[in-house]
Amino acid sequence: MSNKIPVGVLGATGAVGQKFVSLLEDHPWFELTELAASDRSAGKSYKEATVWRQYKPIPETVKTRTIKPCEPGLDCRVVFSGLDSSVAGEVEENFARAGYIVLSNAKNHRMDDDVPLLVPEINPEHLGLIKVQRVRRGWPGAIVTNPNCSTIGLVMALAPIHRAFGVRRVIVTTMQALSGAGYPGHSAIDMLGNVIPFIGGEDEKVETEPLKIMGSLNGDGIRFADCRISAHTNRVFVEDGHMECVSVELDRKASTDEVARVLREFTSLPQELKLPSAPERPVIVTEEKDRPQPRFDRDAGNGMSAIVGRIRECPVFDIRFVVLSHNTIRGAAGAAILNAELMKARGMFNQP
Ligand SMILES: NC(=O)c1ccc[n+]([C@@H]2O[C@H](COP(=O)([O-])OP(=O)(O)OC[C@H]3O[C@@H](n4cnc5c(N)ncnc54)[C@H](OP(=O)(O)O)[C@@H]3O)[C@@H](O)[C@H]2O)c1
Repeated sequence: MSNKIPVGVLGATGAVGQKFVSLLEDHPWFELTELAASDRSAGKSYKEATVWRQYKPIPETVKTRTIKPCEPGLDCRVVFSGLDSSVAGEVEENFARAGYIVLSNAKNHRMDDDVPLLVPEINPEHLGLIKVQRVRRGWPGAIVTNPNCSTIGLVMALAPIHRAFGVRRVIVTTMQALSGAGYPGHSAIDMLGNVIPFIGGEDEKVETEPLKIMGSLNGDGIRFADCRISAHTNRVFVEDGHMECVSVELDRKASTDEVARVLREFTSLPQELKLPSAPERPVIVTEEKDRPQPRFDRDAGNGMSAIVGRIRECPVFDIRFVVLSHNTIRGAAGAAILNAELMKARGMFNQP
């Protein structure tokens, strides 16, 4: 009998769901025991219901497993959600009400006052909101979210800079990979030789989520960080890896060398606790003048690091740089798994 914690994946057939299935294979602490998706897939075997788009083959252990509907009754207490946002809100609430701990990728609950929007390297103390959530909502489970796939790279670079020098204003332009739109996503004819300068709701997410993440836990809620972000989000013809060009105005002036040192030396609780999915270096600073690039750098730190390059002075604000992060790993499934690892390390899966 395995002594690993049984876990399930909601939306297991989708782009993020498949990444969960792939990353959870051989996880040292968690064992994937339940797969759930829509009525279109429920009752079918995982292999039959899924258009598998990962480079690794489908794990043998899940190939023939039957997909269940996304309803409480799954034989596990922890579920990862890669559900479409059109259904995630209600389904995740049903699970939390029934006592499950839900680690969600969906946007629905990220900005709720009583739901942690967690990045273990930045705001582990925000897990304190779970107590508030349980009292307010009267449910024994919990919902914990991870950020939007572009927010994560931006905030992993901004948070150490904010801590050291204060961030006042930010302008960010994203170049977001196709896999961020799920599968099959955009058609090739729309994307080939093209850039789409609109991703529904994305500017707003990138402008608000970092303020909550960099905010402080204050009694029963989060006091948002006092800075402003302007975002231009774009879809580009890249398979995986979101790249962002960022200009930052600081409270206290700092040289590019000082900023690079703060980023390079940034390390935090997941590294201290040696959580299985924690990258050795949360932020990797590249020296090459033409890096990071999605194809070559997105897998750094097993896809869990943010890669920062081209740190230089900004003639309008103070500094500017480029940051890259893997959108389906650090920007989705890997982030939720790291959140679960932190909760497990904190004993939060032992509580009744
Ligand atoms: N892709 C990324 O890089 C990324 C990054 C961060 C966050 N996210 C978020 O993660 C979530 C999933 O994204 P994705 O890219 O993986 O989307 P996707 O490929 O379209 O997958 C959506 C999943 O939701 C399931 N689903 C759809 N309708 C359902 C219903 N009525 N009841 C139960 N399950 C239902 C689908 O199951 P069927 O196959 O059975 O239809 C599928 O498993 C979204 O909320 C997205 O915003 C995505």
